[in-house]
Amino acid sequence: MEKVISWLDARFPLTASFKAHLSEYYAPKNFNFWYYFGSLALLVLVLQIVTGIFLTMNYKPDGQQAFASVEYIMRDVPLGWLVRYAHSTGASAFFIVVYLHMFRGLIYGSFRQPRELVWILGMLIYLCLMAEAFFGYLLPWGQMSYWGAQVIINLFSAIPFIGDTLSTLIRGDFVVSDATLNRFFALHVIAIPLILVGLVAAHLVALHEVGSNNPDGIEIKKHKGKDGHPVDGIPFHPYYTVKDILGVTVFLIVFTAILFFAPEMGGYFLEANNFVPADSLKTPMHIAPVWYFTPFYAILRAVPPLFGSGFPGVAAMGVSVMIFCALPWLDRSPVKSIRYRGPKFKIALACFVVAFLGLGFLGTQPVTPVYTVLSQVLSVVYFAFFLLMPWYTKYDSHKTEPERVTDK
Ligand code: HEM
Repeated sequence: MEKVISWLDARFPLTASFKAHLSEYYAPKNFNFWYYFGSLALLVLVLQIVTGIFLTMNYKPDGQQAFASVEYIMRDVPLGWLVRYAHSTGASAFFIVVYLHMFRGLIYGSFRQPRELVWILGMLIYLCLMAEAFFGYLLPWGQMSYWGAQVIINLFSAIPFIGDTLSTLIRGDFVVSDATLNRFFALHVIAIPLILVGLVAAHLVALHEVGSNNPDGIEIKKHKGKDGHPVDGIPFHPYYTVKDILGVTVFLIVFTAILFFAPEMGGYFLEANNFVPADSLKTPMHIAPVWYFTPFYAILRAVPPLFGSGFPGVAAMGVSVMIFCALPWLDRSPVKSIRYRGPKFKIALACFVVAFLGLGFLGTQPVTPVYTVLSQVLSVVYFAFFLLMPWYTKYDSHKTEPERVTDK
């Protein structure tokens, strides 16, 4: 074995990479619960790719056959139901894990200098993830796939001047059709996953360049021992590989429980209307996106049209996603972690969480006058969190950060 490794090492930086990124990558010793979600996101990424490959073996990207091929996978292909449910549950799990991963960034200020690029790469990953989920959702060719795609692609036609051309280009037709299904398949199965994997690699390289943040929000690189390693750091392997196994185990227990006992999750993970084949002549009564898009969908519906154009709503929805990219430059607090921040930030964050969850709920509901007003109020709170951030973080009180990480 040693001979094989040294043969490889002479031709490829195998041991050197293992050391640089695992056994000699020093991570802060005070990682807590919130630090499980990066490795879990990696796990779900692999799960989606592997189950996706097996689904592709029996799926037919054809308007006449797509729906039936999914039923065939569910009923006739050995373990097809397991692969399909793993993939559909995996899609929702991906967003749960990534939202918690992003929330960790918010509470510990992980988006701040010197990790702006880690954050921006994370945002690009998030955008790709949204695109990946959207393209994938059309593939079962059920009623919700069809009409969901119709609604979302039509949003692009609200963009002034280029809108109509753009939406026709995305569809490949004037209505969602076989041409749309084919291109969405190509994008879902190869284009976006390739970009996603590349971005995740870049995300980790960028993170390892600057080093991880931690729940205290202080830089462990400031205090190095005689061996040149941070005194508050421990090698990622074996310490965090072992810790992450615990996270993976708990995650898999919850994940498989959902997969085996509630794969539709009351219509939140798989909607009832998607068990009905796509019908271009029958619009469902109530079209709503899957839960992970609903906060942004609620913002879209909250903004009234201007001179008959839906562009303001579409723009507000786009900005509501992209605004996360600006966080590193909006936060003016002298401290990073919520542990040392003052009440203004904590209240703002709590309001933001309530607004995000509230909008998420409202996005699943049919429009009523009361819900519309509520969506408008929560949209204002949502944007206020970002737009007022330079002010409330600058004038907020704060506690003095400790010199060294506080690990009990
Ligand atoms: C496929 C999706 C993603 C994967 C596989 C992934 C993977 C990881 C991993 C393995 C880590 C190190 C472990 C940890 O800190 O939890 C990490 C850190 C980080 N990620 Fe992600 N990530 C993803 C998406 C995102 C997104 C969407 C964002 C934000 C927009 C983001 C922002 C960050 C930040 C700021 C850090 C550093 C955190 C710190 O040091 O406190 N990531 N990511």
